[in-house]
Amino acid sequence: MKLSLPLATLLTSAAAFTSSPAFVGRSAPFSTTALDARKPFMCGNWKLNPTTKDEAVELAKGIAAAVADDCISDVALFVPYVYIESAKQAVGGKVEIGAELISPEEKGAFTGAVSTSMVKSMGVNWSLAGHSERRTIFGESNEYINAQCLKLIEKGMNVMLCIGELEEEFEKDLASAVCAVQLKKGLAGISKEDMKRVAIAYEPVWAIGTGKVATPEIAQKVHASCRKILAEMYDQETADNTRILYGGSVTPDSVDELMAQPDIDGALVGGASLDATKFARIINFKKV
Ligand code: PGA
Repeated sequence: MKLSLPLATLLTSAAAFTSSPAFVGRSAPFSTTALDARKPFMCGNWKLNPTTKDEAVELAKGIAAAVADDCISDVALFVPYVYIESAKQAVGGKVEIGAELISPEEKGAFTGAVSTSMVKSMGVNWSLAGHSERRTIFGESNEYINAQCLKLIEKGMNVMLCIGELEEEFEKDLASAVCAVQLKKGLAGISKEDMKRVAIAYEPVWAIGTGKVATPEIAQKVHASCRKILAEMYDQETADNTRILYGGSVTPDSVDELMAQPDIDGALVGGASLDATKFARIINFKKV
């Protein structure tokens, strides 16, 4: 139990938390009490992988097999649209299947775009927003990312807002400042009540896909500063109940130390989520 909140605060928010749309009507694997508001959340981000539907189904099945009924983590996979239906079938309800991206537009002449309503109609409750690859390769701005977040919330869905600094910003000790701006702009217009449907993924860009995982100390420092920003934007209770995940080259070798940090509530995993054995070890991390 990593929370240092007074019990009363946690219990007060229990009712609100359990009525969150993300959790209503859901049995395992998602947590259902405020004491578990920051239950570890392990997420795979498949990006443009794997190559075929058959591989996707095999991978999803392998990952679901690692999720026991009493698993210490909630588990989600953010997968390419074309695999959503078969991945959902393959995991048999043990793993949340989310979208990697949604368009803030509802319908119309936006060739290639996919709306929240479309993914929702396929039983999807979650989407990423603001992944660094979307920011850097596809030029998505904080304002566009904010529109995606607002659309997901408007539709009763959940969003994992990804934030993180570039290497040159890290070297200038600007990690926390960059994250503060991305949090404030990304979450603009999202109410305290709606924050129950938001998770944050801190992913230093220099650590994504590079094998250069942030040290637990570096990650903890930024996570703590993000929680402080959330407390300033909302209040301490909201900050204390929001899951902040770390992402960037997480592997079975690094997960235990990262998860031992008081403000790290899970991991958003790219490469290692494409290997069921590795991701199984991450889901079932060891408490150190
Ligand atoms: P990585 O990717 O684990 O391969 O570094 C993480 C991410 O981009 O979410």
